[in-house]
Amino acid sequence: MSELEQYFEANQQRLMHKYPHYFDIYERYFSSYRNKKITIVEIGVSHGGSLQMWKWYFGNQATIWGIDIDPRCKMMEEENVHVLIGSQEDPDFLKQVYEKTGPIDILIDDGGHTQKQQKLSFDILFDCIRPTGVYLCEDTHTSYQNVYGGGHKRKGSFTEYAKNLIDQVNAYHSEQASLQVNRFAQTANTIHFYDSVVVIEKKERQPPAPKMTGIPSFPSKPEKKTFFEKLTLHFLVRTNKLLQKLHLPGYHINRMIELSSKS
Ligand SMILES: C[S@@+](CC[C@H](N)C(=O)[O-])C[C@H]1O[C@@H](n2cnc3c(N)ncnc32)[C@H](O)[C@@H]1O
Repeated sequence: MSELEQYFEANQQRLMHKYPHYFDIYERYFSSYRNKKITIVEIGVSHGGSLQMWKWYFGNQATIWGIDIDPRCKMMEEENVHVLIGSQEDPDFLKQVYEKTGPIDILIDDGGHTQKQQKLSFDILFDCIRPTGVYLCEDTHTSYQNVYGGGHKRKGSFTEYAKNLIDQVNAYHSEQASLQVNRFAQTANTIHFYDSVVVIEKKERQPPAPKMTGIPSFPSKPEKKTFFEKLTLHFLVRTNKLLQKLHLPGYHINRMIELSSKS
């Protein structure tokens, strides 16, 4: 059992509300931040149990900020723990968060869990995370629940929105105008999906360039293509573009070039 889960199971302090499988996920992404001077923000304070857990886990150099719509949550403030009262559905409030917290190392969204709230919070607060920080949105199973505005493959659900971010992680390789490198592609390194949790790790990215090291085991094919190979390649690229327009699967171009050069 992870240290965080042990803490949770033994908790006799303020009430906390988490799915137990979240603790392994937290440890995986958060453990390298322990005992460092960092800033953590958690949307959703409730009875304050998780704020106390973060304070214990990250140590006394960490500054913890809670955000909640319920003014009673202000009473959960203590040394190194601050609470901002406001709604994660209010863009003006969210835009002011950074002025109070400064750059954020870890953000956990455990607030109201509606699609609009999760998406808006992400859209505004992702840029407030440090270039090496982590954004973790939890209880994303609400993407599948009507009461939260979710539903399987439902337009506007946070999970559908996050699925599209996968394309951005690969956008540097795109040949289509519909997929261009944006700020997310330049600053997000990974996006991981778990049961009820989406985690995005940030990292300033440069356009990826492949490299080769080592000694060849056999002579490489000459770089220069024959006229016939060039013609085949041109034809295959055109055909694949057409297949894409028709929403049909593409041909494996490298394999076709191999075949054509053998013929
Ligand atoms: C699941 S509880 C948080 C639990 C807490 N993080 C824990 O682990 O014990 C959700 C909290 O989100 C708050 N909340 C609901 N809607 C909100 C909104 N629009 N903006 C900010 N907080 C909201 C609720 O008041 C509630 O305290």
